[in-house]
Amino acid sequence: MDINKIKNAEAKHYMPVFSRDSLVLERGEGNCLYDINGNKYVDFVAGIATNILGYNHSEYTEAVCNQVKKLMHVSNHYYTAIQSQYITRLCEASGFPRVFLCNSGAEANECAIKLARRYFKNHGGDKTILYAEGSFHGRTLATLTVTGNTAQHERYSPLPQGFDSFKYNDFDDFKRKLTDNVGAVILETIQGERGVRPFSNDFLANAYALCKSKGVLFIVDEVQTGMGRTGTLFSFEHFGIKPDIITMAKGIAGGIPMGACLASEEVGTAFSRGDHGSTFGGNALACAAADKVLEILQSGLLTKGAAMGAYLGERLAHLSKYNFITDIRGLGLMRGIELCDKVPATEFESKLRDKGYLVNVAGNNTLRLIPPLTITKAEIDGLIAALDEVCATTHV
Ligand SMILES: Cc1ncc(COP(=O)(O)O)c(C=O)c1O
Repeated sequence: MDINKIKNAEAKHYMPVFSRDSLVLERGEGNCLYDINGNKYVDFVAGIATNILGYNHSEYTEAVCNQVKKLMHVSNHYYTAIQSQYITRLCEASGFPRVFLCNSGAEANECAIKLARRYFKNHGGDKTILYAEGSFHGRTLATLTVTGNTAQHERYSPLPQGFDSFKYNDFDDFKRKLTDNVGAVILETIQGERGVRPFSNDFLANAYALCKSKGVLFIVDEVQTGMGRTGTLFSFEHFGIKPDIITMAKGIAGGIPMGACLASEEVGTAFSRGDHGSTFGGNALACAAADKVLEILQSGLLTKGAAMGAYLGERLAHLSKYNFITDIRGLGLMRGIELCDKVPATEFESKLRDKGYLVNVAGNNTLRLIPPLTITKAEIDGLIAALDEVCATTHV
């Protein structure tokens, strides 16, 4: 297949929203991708934290193929045994008794916003929702509104009403903004798209305690940080907090589109029949995939992924000796390496690609590492060696 033909078709027909790498990927095996010329890449992007089992994972592939042959989709007007099996497993594993299944992270957050608003209506009237500057929650109009990106806000105004922002990691500002009009707060514990930027433990503990004391709902977007990414099933577990609502997507079904909004019994029953819905959400195929992913996590991968995450953290630490590396941060298998302005992270990205490693750039000149949870020590060692080689030939 001619790469130019592929690029031309995209240029001619696809709406011009993506900046794509000049790479045509054809197949995956284990934690590696192969392009149309047969070149192999160890994948530290994983479809942006989505392919948590890597590629062609035998147990997962078998479960998905079997479900395709049996039943892929029926309307949510009917029950399926696989959806029932999955929601039971998910609710038991997460400790949240109520779930709504959808198809993406944006939809999961849209559901969380609608659920919070419905809850406010049931408890005395309209309230606003606070979000963090620098956040990313999706691209529907409501989730774009709670995404802290003013350039995007200007492009799509007028935006839905009833939202306000607070400064990232600034508890004084948070306290000021948490007026009696606020009914809910939404945040990511680690802002992935902003370059793997974690909130401090203190901020999260204080913000959570204040919300609890005022009866304000605490919503954590676990779309990128969930499914074992940070070493626990959900990232909020690191901070001793228990949100009222969490949202999930990306790795939830190992690459098949799915999202979920989970809630406490009190909040999760704020919707009544007909208040929300989705044609594809929670269909048999997505549930079979998600059920297998969660089963695999529960039978050892969560622990193994946590160990690999700790190992990756240890192996990255020595890079701080390079004067152009300004920060190394993150948790588990979600790490960011921030470079100084004089060294474009995109150059590192392409040099690493030439050495057979895929990483991507997020936020402020930061290399983001979010590999499959099945990543091995040898693959991490290989990336570190490649990073060292690139660093050794970089001078500022
Ligand atoms: C934290 C977070 N929330 C929401 C989303 C949106 O997810 P989706 O692209 O599946 O709509 C993303 C996507 O990157 C994300 O990282």
